[in-house]
Amino acid sequence: MRLALTKGRIEKQTIALFEKIGFDCSELKDKGRKLILPVENFEVLLAKPDDVITYIEYGVCDLGIVGKDTIAQKGGKFYEVLDLGFGKCRFALANKKDVDFYAGSGVKTIATKYPNVARNYFQSKNMDIRIIKIEGSVEVAPLLGLADGIVDIVETGNTLVANGLEVKEWIMDISSRLIVNTASMKLKMEEINEFIRKIENVKI
Ligand code: PRP
Repeated sequence: MRLALTKGRIEKQTIALFEKIGFDCSELKDKGRKLILPVENFEVLLAKPDDVITYIEYGVCDLGIVGKDTIAQKGGKFYEVLDLGFGKCRFALANKKDVDFYAGSGVKTIATKYPNVARNYFQSKNMDIRIIKIEGSVEVAPLLGLADGIVDIVETGNTLVANGLEVKEWIMDISSRLIVNTASMKLKMEEINEFIRKIENVKI
């Protein structure tokens, strides 16, 4: 079995989860510049969030650990089998404090790193919007007059407060998820089910 793991925060929390199960993560923790590391009886491939989904879809990895934010934005054909309970945050619509997002007529402009999430959200409200894709620090867009609002991830809310913005609507709960390649689910069912059981036994 090979597991694609999102680098960074999710990687750290996954290592903590694996160690709780009793998996030997010494090579993964001491990885240097290596990208494929052995853990117990499987391999871990470290990857960027979108690439985790790509590797699962192409079947070069059987399992993946990735945020629901990436799944909601990128989509794809795989099974989402488990909510791992960490990496919790939420998608929200935010704009300047004390400014009504819906005031006035005309099509609103949303700046976001997650255009599909924003499009789906406003489509569900039958509302036309214009989307500007920004790669990061999207909070500046309303301050610069580039957008009427943002659709972004909120964890503590500190970034919004520090920039004079506030949440107007909550869109979706996010956490890290275990995903499985559709063929692996059939071909390696026993191994995968045992892996899932081990996680469920220690998960809070
Ligand atoms: C995310 C998100 C917000 C921030 C929210 O950004 O886009 O900017 O975290 O966190 P808070 O509610 O705890 O303040 P990230 O750190 O992933 O970097 P990015 O802006 O470059 O995407």
